[in-house]
Amino acid sequence: MSKKLTVRDLYELYAECPDELTKEECIVDGWIRTNRDNGKIGFIELHDGTVFKGVQIVYTEGTGYERLKTAAAIEVTGELRLTPEAKQPFEIHASKIDLIGDVDEDYPLQKKRASFEFLRDLAYLRPRANTFQALYRVRSVLAMNIHRYFQDRGFVYVHTPEITANDAEGAGQVFSVVTDAKDPYKDFFGRKASLTVSGQLHVEAFALAFKDVYTFGPTFRAEKSNTPRHASEFWMIEPEIAFAHLSDDMDLIEDFLKYLIKETIARCPDEMAFFDKFIQPGLVAKLKHVEETPFQKMTYTEAISYLEKAVKEGHKFEYSDIKWGMDLQSEHERYLTEKIVGGPLFLIDYPKEIKAFYMKENDDGKTVAACDLLVPGEGEIVGGSEREVRPEILRAKMEKLGNFEGLEWYYNLRRFGGCPHAGFGLGFDRFLMYITGITNIRDTEPYPRTANALKY
Ligand code: 4AD
Ligand code: MG
Repeated sequence: MSKKLTVRDLYELYAECPDELTKEECIVDGWIRTNRDNGKIGFIELHDGTVFKGVQIVYTEGTGYERLKTAAAIEVTGELRLTPEAKQPFEIHASKIDLIGDVDEDYPLQKKRASFEFLRDLAYLRPRANTFQALYRVRSVLAMNIHRYFQDRGFVYVHTPEITANDAEGAGQVFSVVTDAKDPYKDFFGRKASLTVSGQLHVEAFALAFKDVYTFGPTFRAEKSNTPRHASEFWMIEPEIAFAHLSDDMDLIEDFLKYLIKETIARCPDEMAFFDKFIQPGLVAKLKHVEETPFQKMTYTEAISYLEKAVKEGHKFEYSDIKWGMDLQSEHERYLTEKIVGGPLFLIDYPKEIKAFYMKENDDGKTVAACDLLVPGEGEIVGGSEREVRPEILRAKMEKLGNFEGLEWYYNLRRFGGCPHAGFGLGFDRFLMYITGITNIRDTEPYPRTANALKY
């Protein structure tokens, strides 16, 4: 009796024992990528999504199989043959092909090379295209590697809430949660509720109970920045470590990212080879270099002098009015990481006015113990800091910002067995862009959400 196998099974069987594959009868379900014939025999490239590669189906003409269309769902019964001379290691000689699902004439993905913009508008079909097959498998593997990293090191995974009453970053870019929009203050929760911009405040409480913790989930920001790196809904990984300072935090970031790079290259060789060939030539070599090189560190103050010097020497920035205290734009971040260091760069000790209230104030009274990790091609992918744990300083900052009321519990963490602690947030989608070479966040997310775009 013939066995039902996936394309993944076939490659695994081949890897285990190539000789036994020959003349094996099997049944494979999948979708037609291409169907061509030379007048005598026909070839279907069949994909079932279980691996990046497909399998070639060979049939004799006159069977009507030459009329099967691209994207049709079929079931193939046939015999496996090794093909040592061909590009692919084996093929299936079909004795029977059953049409399971036909394709209407208006199927929009007829063309082989559709642009990313065109495919973005077809979010429900693009997972079938090569780039997106590679991207969404890497996305899945990356998510599991993140859990593996932390679980292997004893970190506790905390499910922080999606609905919150606080704006953790204090930037006011929240989506309100309402059932009756007339008065959000008298709504379901009896107080103003919003979708979380960060799980950090909630996860800090767990760090003060479990020492090493992380949260990993969707976060929401109502920024109307129409850039290739901002989404209204994105995933973030936020570890928090107790009895730790900024330098421990940066050590963790570096070790974590290097692990993710290494594991992704090892676990997704076909996908990474595809990105290397078609999306960003040299990508894998670049990542391997990053994995082997210590990340550089620079203070914000030093960064400002580099930028001032660049302007003096005639470098054109869109915002060229460089002065200490300014918020860096991504063009500035990219200049520093691309032109000054040529690799990942930790920028530390930012002015306190441009960073969040919870960051530890440095002894200079002007800066905070923050670290952003900047990478070539993108700018910031990680934002982290040591937290302010001195109750009186934190309280004064919160009262000034007006978020003390309602967040007393967060302040209390400093009074009830507080200790130095630090953490960071890695933008999952931005990191996926970095390791695949994909340049728009709208492509890394299965169904991206940005301002004025909610088709699916
Ligand atoms: O720098 P951010 O705002 O830091 C925090 O939220 C802290 N609570 C993290 C922490 O210390 N626990 O955001 C962290 C990262 C950014 O570096 C960026 O990679 C990503 O989240 N990010 C976005 N990604 C996509 N679209 C957006 N609109 C993003 N905003 C931030
Ligand atoms: Mg940030």
